[in-house]
Amino acid sequence: MRVPVFRGHDASSAAPPIVGGYRLASSAAAMSLSVLRDVVAKAAQPGVVSFALGMPDVELFPTAAFSRVFDRVLRRERQALQYGPPFQPLQAQIATLMEKRGAPCRKEQVFLTHGAQQGMRLLAQLLLDPGGRVLLEEIVYEGCRMAFQGHAPELQTVPTSAAAGLDVEAVEERLSRAPKPAFLYVIPDGHNPLGASLSLAGRARLVDLARQHQMPIIEDDAYGFLYYEQGPLPPLRALDDRWIFHLGSFSKILAPGLRVGWIVVPESLVPALSAHKQGADLYTANLNQIAITRFLEREPFEEHLAMLRREYMKRRDVMLHALAENLPRPAATWTVPRCGMYVWVELPESVDATDLLSTAIETEKVAFSPGEAFAIGDSRRARHCLRLSFANSSPDQIEDGIRRLGRALARHLAAPPPASTRATPPRPSTAA
Ligand SMILES: Cc1ncc(COP(=O)(O)O)c(C=O)c1O
Repeated sequence: MRVPVFRGHDASSAAPPIVGGYRLASSAAAMSLSVLRDVVAKAAQPGVVSFALGMPDVELFPTAAFSRVFDRVLRRERQALQYGPPFQPLQAQIATLMEKRGAPCRKEQVFLTHGAQQGMRLLAQLLLDPGGRVLLEEIVYEGCRMAFQGHAPELQTVPTSAAAGLDVEAVEERLSRAPKPAFLYVIPDGHNPLGASLSLAGRARLVDLARQHQMPIIEDDAYGFLYYEQGPLPPLRALDDRWIFHLGSFSKILAPGLRVGWIVVPESLVPALSAHKQGADLYTANLNQIAITRFLEREPFEEHLAMLRREYMKRRDVMLHALAENLPRPAATWTVPRCGMYVWVELPESVDATDLLSTAIETEKVAFSPGEAFAIGDSRRARHCLRLSFANSSPDQIEDGIRRLGRALARHLAAPPPASTRATPPRPSTAA
């Protein structure tokens, strides 16, 4: 079997990038921009219904509660505006949260970060040598590539599917015949962009492989608390506390503007991780650490989470129903996510979703993320796919937007534009 390998960049052979007369570091050559930037700009035009970005709905933020909390904190806790080391009461609150998530840990194992995104980057700094090998799914959250790319990693992809997520057998096969990677990155729950959740058996097997090969796994659990009717599956960290490095975040369950997340790591690695964190930004924003702690202590967080699950499940169901009403079957298929914010749609292979996006925005004012933005390496495998986020639109907007998408697709299928001349696969830059 051919091993798909992709390099961020090759510093030895590439000419140093010159931008505006400035000679940049050779690693800057790999920091590419993408089609998603255009999508963001176009999707923000007035009247466009956008399913493009993985943003939670501002209407669902606990804004009033945070206004009370910030006010109280600023009146009573003057050190909140000071530099602040990791706030131990927050570490304790997160340890309690991890227990509710089914993966208990000690508060000393909770490492605070500016979001899961920073957690990814810090772990890459900790585990990945320049040019080192990373195992990851062939279609995956584009932000991870950005977090790792400064190390010019050798990205080895493993098949993944909208139905089942990561192909664990393929991981096993890869490990049996190739040197082990620095780590495997995976999103077992509410996969971005596929919407898939890994089966219980798949989780157990993956953890066995991590133990057997002594391979760290970065488990990205950004969506783990947003589970719907079937309830949560145990995260990988529930099955192993040595090889699984668990990323958590308040972004999708409180508000991303707070920029607070965490890594659950073995205590022995905390000093090395702290050194990287200090090099990056000294400490996580103290005011936000303290405000979140007081919020969790005083406000009904469980009720808030239950409200989010109810609301997002309703939106998911409205979207699934609207897709069934408006997209041609069996030509189009889509996932039914049990967790997270995304529905992944597969169209006939003749459809180029990036071309469809242009016409969908122009003619129907509806936007989505083209699948190829999430493909590592060969983007053609996801060219006919698209990601829809149901989190950031009201049920009425979802019904209306999917009707528009259905019309745009029907027109596109009836009169496809001339074969795409796009030579270079777009590289994503906008994480969310
Ligand atoms: C899978 C995944 N991981 C991490 C992040 C970034 O999370 P944070 O806001 O906590 O940095 C996102 C954002 O959309 C995501 O989809």
